[in-house]
Formats: sequence, structure tokens, C-alpha cells
Amino acid sequence: MRRTTTRSGTRPGTRSGRELSALDAAYDECRRLVRTTRPTEYALMQLMPPVARPVSWALYAAFAFADDLLDRSAEAPEERGRLLREWRAALEADLASGTSDDPVRLALTDAVWHWGLDLGDLLDALDAVQRDDDRESVATWAEWRERAHAQNMSWPEQLMRMLVRVGLPVPVRLRDLPGFTRFVEGLFLTDMLRDLPEDLDGGHVWFPTEVLDRFQVTRAELLAREWTPAVRRLVAHLADQAREWLEDSRRALRNTLPLGPAIVLDSAVALFGAELDAFVRAGSAALHRQVRVPRHIEWRILGPARARAAVVWRLTLPPGRDAAAEASRTAAHRPAGVSGDDSAPALPAGPERHTTRIAEPPLPPRPHRDGARPPAIAEAHLPQHVAIVMDGNGRWATGLGLPRDEGHRAGAVALRDVVQGALEIGLAHLTVYAFSTENWKRSPDEVSKLFAIMRAELLDGELLDHDVRLRWVGSPDGLPEDVVEVLRAQEHATRNRTGLTLNVCVNYGGRAELARAGASLARAALAGEVDPARVSEQLFAAHLPHHALPDVDLLWRTSGEIRTSNFLPWHAHYAELHFTDQPWPDVDRRDLWEAVVAYTHRKRRKGAASAPAPAEGTE
Ligand code: IPE
Ligand code: IPE
Ligand code: MG
Repeated sequence: MRRTTTRSGTRPGTRSGRELSALDAAYDECRRLVRTTRPTEYALMQLMPPVARPVSWALYAAFAFADDLLDRSAEAPEERGRLLREWRAALEADLASGTSDDPVRLALTDAVWHWGLDLGDLLDALDAVQRDDDRESVATWAEWRERAHAQNMSWPEQLMRMLVRVGLPVPVRLRDLPGFTRFVEGLFLTDMLRDLPEDLDGGHVWFPTEVLDRFQVTRAELLAREWTPAVRRLVAHLADQAREWLEDSRRALRNTLPLGPAIVLDSAVALFGAELDAFVRAGSAALHRQVRVPRHIEWRILGPARARAAVVWRLTLPPGRDAAAEASRTAAHRPAGVSGDDSAPALPAGPERHTTRIAEPPLPPRPHRDGARPPAIAEAHLPQHVAIVMDGNGRWATGLGLPRDEGHRAGAVALRDVVQGALEIGLAHLTVYAFSTENWKRSPDEVSKLFAIMRAELLDGELLDHDVRLRWVGSPDGLPEDVVEVLRAQEHATRNRTGLTLNVCVNYGGRAELARAGASLARAALAGEVDPARVSEQLFAAHLPHHALPDVDLLWRTSGEIRTSNFLPWHAHYAELHFTDQPWPDVDRRDLWEAVVAYTHRKRRKGAASAPAPAEGTE
């Protein structure tokens, strides 16, 4: 059963100074717990952007705490089970009330509230840990896998959700990425080998019976820590297996993950690999005490990873987000709404979220990160329809020594901010050029990454959490099915929104659009429905595939190119043109406002001797 986050109760937004210091202490306690009990995972978390670290400690500390509780050998099994059930029930109560008297639960509660994490999913994962305690053994690899997934998918996904909230277009549904389940299995098996001494202390052997049988090893033999040739062969095989899964996942995920998470994944595979090496080298000792990776090996992996990660996060996080977070050490402490942060949105829970996740009712526009306020422009002076050629992603990325797709990711973040700015000034229509019919000339790799980013953005980005009605302008021909699906699904999900209409041009070509209108008219003429002598501009427009699109008042292109590249030839026939030099990823809502203010000063004569009503008047 899935639970929903109740948003009644004390919101952490109203915490007092004393509560804030309790919160600091709670996150610190989580940090301490993870650092001392899971040093490898802790080191990996330090590769995340600073804003994400407290959340990752809280998420992981909760799981480590539950897991360790069950591994405790001092208590009888029934007692351990009871303690965990109580802890789990207290957590649910804390999450409903928004506060807690236990440090780990307090930090987790704060993280869930503040970042709008999926509580139901987290509790399900904790339940899966609990279920382990009720079973004696695992029969097959299939059953073992199920267990690995149930316990370990949730927290990394929640962490991704949090990164999306700070403006990084990372994929949230990690479980849908080919290769991620393999990673989780490799991680789980490595962890199991590492924890072998404690598991044996607690009387558990969690390897599937199927593999024990294959190597002719009995549970009793393992529990007695007998180092027989069969046991040796078994553990060597398991270590190889874990390494193979980790490597497989690295290969599969290399091209799907954005640079930041990819650095964390690469380092995880290297570090866990080093743990497996150390485990195998330790021989029989690995059954008696946990084996640690030598410091110098850890440093060899982590040193360069830290440097790379720091650069990548600095470049890909929207400016200001992480610095602000670092200044207050734990941005997650800052009250939602009070800080001007885009936090704790009331997201609907439920299985439908990942197909058409949108906030209902929509959230108000997120304020600008530096507090910039929109210009006051009278509605009569606003352009009704602004169209943008979001150009320069590729050059932005290559200029920074990054692959082109990082430019598209950063471009997606820029669009989020511009949409917030459009909502703030009350713009009716914004049309953005996301993929032209000419863009198929690019490498298949760039094209497929671009679509993956677009899809993730529409599914998990913040765009549709606000009062935005999405319309897709373009043709399905040649587009991947999942992109068409998400465009249609989100069009449907947002159809009743009344704020900004955001038209995204995906697989759009202006001439193709005109040709389709021509074909449609010709068909109508052949069918005797249209008299060719009476084809007017209005009739032609009615045959355009996207005839509901209003005329463009202002067409803006970034990155210094002064052309329109087959964009909206019909609708932009009388548009005011605006060209700016900065590449699209460097744009934010203030640039949109500037463009709109410049527009208000234009004289729109449309062929007449003087403009009917001067469009001036920023108030
Ligand atoms: C615009 O940026 C985005 C798309 C065309 C999809 P570009 O990818 O064209 O960036 P540049 O023009 O190569 O710098
Ligand atoms: C136009 O940009 C298309 C989009 C922004 C999606 P391009 O970068 O593809 O255009 P050209 O090739 O410079 O004209
Ligand atoms: Mg371009």
C-alpha cells in the first residue's frame, strides 16, 4: 500500500532558532553514523554537491540504522524485529507531524518535508528491510534480486529527486535506466560480503541457497566460519560476481547519466571494486572481521574524483544554489517558502506520478534565486506570444570542455527559470524551439541524449509543477515513441491549466508545417470542400497543423546567430526580432524580462504610417 505525505501538522517552515540547532545536530548525527558505519558510502556522498549531502546522510542513516538494528546480535531476533517495527511506526508519526525527538528521524523528516521526497516509497523500502528479519534464508538469485531492489532503489532515487529540485535535470526514475538495477545488485552483494562477519554473528547467511548448493557449501559450515576449499571457491565466485555486475552497470550507464552522477557512479564502482579485492586478499580473515580498503588506494580513487566532481557541480548547478546551501551548511534546514526556495512542493503521491507527474493545484512561480523582481508591465503592453530559439547549448558546453549534452542539460535548467519569469509577468504564450527537423543531422548520440534530457525534464522537472499548459508543436515522424508518449501525456495532464501556455517545438520545421497546410487544402479542394479561388490567409491558417497558435509578437534568439532557422514562418511573419549574444544556458528570467521591456518600446506599425497605440509603458 502506498501512503501519501500529509501536509497538515507543523510545517518545518516555522522552526525556531532552538529547533534549527536541533536540526543541525540531527544532520550531524546522521553524518557521524554514516561516516563511522559506512565509510565508503560516506566518501561517495562527499562527491555530491554540498547541498545534497545532508539529505544523503539522512536518507542513508535511516537505512543503515534499520539494517544495523537487525544485525545486532545482542538481542533475540524477536526483540530486534519489535524494535524496528516501533522505530518505523515512530518515523511514520514523525513524518506526519513534521518533527521528531530522535535525531535520525528528525533529519529524515526534515529532508522529506523540505524537498518533497516520496515518503511512501521510502517507507516501502524500510518495510523491505524489516521483511528480511522475518525470513530465514533466500532460495534463489531471483528472490535475492527482488530483495536487493526492494531495499536499495528508493534512497538513491529520492536523492535524485532532491537534485532535480535544486535545478539539475538528472533522471529520477533510476530503476528505469538500463544498468541501474545491475548496479544495485553489485552494491548489495559487495555490502553483503563486507558485512559477512556481522551477519554470521547474527546467525544469518543471506546468499541464495542455490549458490551455496552449487558450491556444495552448507549454512552450518559458513556459520562455523570453516575455511574449506569449497567456502574459498564460493566467496571468490561471489566477489567476481559482484565485480562483474558493477562493471556491467558502469558500461550500461556511462552514456545515460549526466556528468555529475556519472562521476559518483564511476567512483562507486572503483571503490567497491577495491573493497572486493581487499576482501578476496584477506582470505579466511574476511569471515572474522570487516576488511578495509587501504587508505592510499581510497585516495587514489577519491582525490581526482573530488576535483572533477567539484568542477562539474559548479558548472552544472544553477549559480547561487549550492553556494547558498554551503553557507548555511544545510540548506535543507531553511524553511520552505520563507527562504524563497523552490522547496517542499505538495506533489501528489501515487503510481501515476511517474507518467504524468504534475502538482495539483499548481505551485506559484518560484522566486528568482537572487530575489530579482519582475518589471511591472501593463497587460495591454505585454506581447501576447513570445517565441525563443534557444541556441548555443553546444558552444556553451564545448567552451567549458564539456560534452555537448551537458549544454543541453544546462539549457533545460535555463528554460525552467525563463518559464518562471514568464509566469511572473503573466505572459500568455511562450513557444520554444527545442528540436528542429534539421537537427536530425546531428550525431545519433547527441540526438538520443537530447531526447532523454527532454523526456526526463517533462517527467520530473519542475516545469509542470506550476501553472503551465504544455502544448507540443511538431511532427511525430521519426521521434522515439517514449518521447511522443510523454509529450502527449503531459499535454493531456495540463490541459485544464489556465496560466502560461508553453508550446514546445519538438521535431518542428516551418516549411514542413506550411507544406502540410498546403496538402490539407489540396485534399479539401479535391473533395470539393474548398474552392481554390476562395483560399484566403484565414483559410490557409485554419489548415495549419497547429492552427490554434497565435501570431508571434516577439521572436528572440540567443547566442549571436541572426537567423530564424525555419522557425514559425507563418506565425512570426510580423514578429519583433530580438537577438542576444549569450548562449542559452547562460540565460535566466531577467533576460526574458529585458527582451519584453525592449519590445514595449518598439513601434508596431504593421504597414501603417504610425503605430495605433504605442506599446510603451513599463510601469
Ligand atoms: C540549441 O543549442 C539546442 C538545439 C538545437 C537542440 P545548439 O545545440 O544548437 O548549440 P550550438 O548552436 O551548437 O552552440
Ligand atoms: C535552431 O538552432 C533549432 C533549435 C534551437 C532547436 P540550430 O542551432 O539547430 O540552428 P542553426 O543550425 O544554427 O541554424
Ligand atoms: Mg545552434
